[in-house]
Amino acid sequence: MRSYAAFLMVSALCLSMGSVTMQTCSPTSPCTPLKGGQAFREPRQVKGINSAPLTYTMTVGIADFTVDWLTVKRRLYDREFPGPTFTLKPGDKFNLNLINSLLRPDFTGPENTFRYPNTTNIHTHGLHISSASPQDNVLIEIGPGESFRYEYEIDARQPVGTYWYHPHYHGSVHFQGMGGMGGLIIIEDDPATMTTELASVSCPGNCEHDVQILLQTFQYSPEERSGHSFLQREMHDDKLFRLNSVNLTDSSNFTNLEQWLEDAANAIKYTLVNGLLNPVMDMEPGQMKRFRILDTGGLYAVALHIDNIDPNGPRCTVKEIAMDGVYLDRPRSPWLGRTFLVAAGRVDWLVICPEIGTYELRSSFFDNDEESMGEHPTSIGTFMTIRVTGVRRSSSLPTTLPQRQNFVSDLRQVTQENIKGRFVVEVTPTDTLNREDYSGVYYRYKMETNTIQEWHLTNTEMFTSHPIHMHINHAQVISYNPYTGPYGVDDGPSKWKLFSQTGEICTYQFKGYDATAIIYPPTNALKYLGHDIRQKRRGTNNTIGYVPIGDWRDTILVPPLGNITVRFNTHEYTGDVIIHCHLQGDADHGMAMFVQIVNRGENTEANITSGNANQSSCLGNFATIVTLNRILILSPMLATILSSYHG
Ligand SMILES: *[C@@H]1O[C@H](CO)[C@@H](O)[C@H](O)[C@H]1NC(C)=O
Ligand SMILES: *[C@@H]1O[C@H](CO)[C@@H](O)[C@H](O)[C@H]1NC(C)=O
Ligand SMILES: *[C@@H]1O[C@H](CO)[C@@H](O)[C@H](O)[C@H]1NC(C)=O
Ligand SMILES: *[C@@H]1O[C@H](CO)[C@@H](O)[C@H](O)[C@H]1NC(C)=O
Ligand SMILES: *[C@@H]1O[C@H](CO)[C@@H](O)[C@H](O)[C@H]1NC(C)=O
Ligand SMILES: *[C@@H]1O[C@H](CO)[C@@H](O)[C@H](O)[C@H]1NC(C)=O
Repeated sequence: MRSYAAFLMVSALCLSMGSVTMQTCSPTSPCTPLKGGQAFREPRQVKGINSAPLTYTMTVGIADFTVDWLTVKRRLYDREFPGPTFTLKPGDKFNLNLINSLLRPDFTGPENTFRYPNTTNIHTHGLHISSASPQDNVLIEIGPGESFRYEYEIDARQPVGTYWYHPHYHGSVHFQGMGGMGGLIIIEDDPATMTTELASVSCPGNCEHDVQILLQTFQYSPEERSGHSFLQREMHDDKLFRLNSVNLTDSSNFTNLEQWLEDAANAIKYTLVNGLLNPVMDMEPGQMKRFRILDTGGLYAVALHIDNIDPNGPRCTVKEIAMDGVYLDRPRSPWLGRTFLVAAGRVDWLVICPEIGTYELRSSFFDNDEESMGEHPTSIGTFMTIRVTGVRRSSSLPTTLPQRQNFVSDLRQVTQENIKGRFVVEVTPTDTLNREDYSGVYYRYKMETNTIQEWHLTNTEMFTSHPIHMHINHAQVISYNPYTGPYGVDDGPSKWKLFSQTGEICTYQFKGYDATAIIYPPTNALKYLGHDIRQKRRGTNNTIGYVPIGDWRDTILVPPLGNITVRFNTHEYTGDVIIHCHLQGDADHGMAMFVQIVNRGENTEANITSGNANQSSCLGNFATIVTLNRILILSPMLATILSSYHG
């Protein structure tokens, strides 16, 4: 992939420069690579006592954050990068008083642009929780100088596992998240439900082996237009927080530190572990640990593995036991030896390194991965060093895992008549979903509580994939299907067109469609078609991006021209559910929409998608949308008649 080649070039450059001189680096005489190498440490821990409600006050403010010689000013939780870890149990109450100590004036701009750097709120990512205030309502607005008291009631049936929190105020999600605002939420296991082996590496009994690893991006390089100074300019951040007034004393071609940091050759794009650059973790040979890994990433997917730095040395055993907070049926080895996480994804690993030696937690992608991912921002390299020393121990892996809650039990065998709703989430060009920009609470779909839903996640983009996140309920991946829908070609904001796979301009386009815009499809538009075939051939073609069938996830990568069937149980919570791309910049730019869960018997009529076109439609409207509690299934003949009507 492109980014991989670029990384190789950059690291070769750094190595050759490093061997020539041994400089002392400073803000006025900067140099890379940044080195890091401190001892591993976890984020600060905040935990309730017994079953009393946990009450905590957390402050958003500006604080200094330092990597090696480089000190930057960031918006942070409690002045920490990352924020503290909150550990809770199912059924707990958690009162979080969030104080926003940022000041006015805030910066504003048009809807669906980067704006409001000083306004914030919190999303409890992955929790099965109410979206009504004072709980996980992403429409809460905590302006400069304001505060809000969240009163979370953790569900008694909340799956135990690894979750997280981050800002979710539309317009500043990407800026604040990429800047370092984020932290873990752990829903602690009940020792009675774990095997002895799992309990031996899990809180509450054995927290010293239950290790939190939060991956965050620290970036100034212009790659993906996500470097911090780029976002600061977009956000009209206070000039006091910029680095362009730090003049350089060395003879480089750059006048100030900001320019230097942004130069791609300096490669300021690192993935930090708990705010540390390549920290060193100690383990004993044969000892088992539980790693809870979160990719806060912002944008960047990772494909994680542990390697012995001696390529001929023994390898560590790594088993996946939970994805996105939800236990798997049983421990499994990572597909292709790597665990693929999109931005926001989590994995719980069991890790045993058998012999004394030095190992590294790394992320790598290879050419074939593109077959399942298309073009997607990735982060590669070494994130952490694991030093294995000391007395040999023996530990054994569990063969079973705690049983999942009923509402996340296997839905693959559900019969068609038990599916009570269908909907399509269609990724569309220029940061839109279902052919429209985000426009606040405007429901594209409604569904009743306690129903099984079957949705298709599709992507009309020709080349790029998007991680789609749904709040409140996880979804189970059922199948990768043939993609028969249109593809979109874009030429800048609001300027795009949908074409059928045979190259005709679709009759159904989108709200605000400009028929006069001259846009031609490229000849390789269908390059990534065929995910259904490639997914089924996973065994023969090694590509990392497909979710294993049957997994429960809260964020799912939808490849270009992909079509994934997912199912979920709407379970108990009524209210707003936002669905968005977890490339947070895309979401800020409009790739987000609301659906709603209503009580049984309430009206489920909702607006169909833009331009009066049903999702996936091109030359005729498809009839897959639920209205008035009914699923209308049109015969192919009727669909043809309808399409000739509209055509
Ligand atoms: C945001 O708050 C900081 C102080 O915390 C202030 O210096 C700045 O001017 C405010 N506005 C913007 C757009 O950064
Ligand atoms: C940096 O250089 C500019 C002119 O090149 C000058 O105006 C400014 O005062 C300098 N800043 C500092 C902190 O020395
Ligand atoms: C496997 O991947 C390669 C390139 O990455 C591709 O050329 C080939 O067609 C693929 N094979 C199958 C069976 O999908
Ligand atoms: C449908 O959209 C219109 C505006 O276009 C809005 O006024 C109305 O509330 C929407 N209906 C639903 C059910 O969201
Ligand atoms: C997605 O797959 C489903 C199931 O095979 C199919 O009914 C639907 O038409 C497909 N949609 C598109 C846009 O390909
Ligand atoms: C979209 O689908 C629904 C239900 O399947 C149907 O009632 C509606 O007429 C379709 N819309 C258009 C514009 O054809």
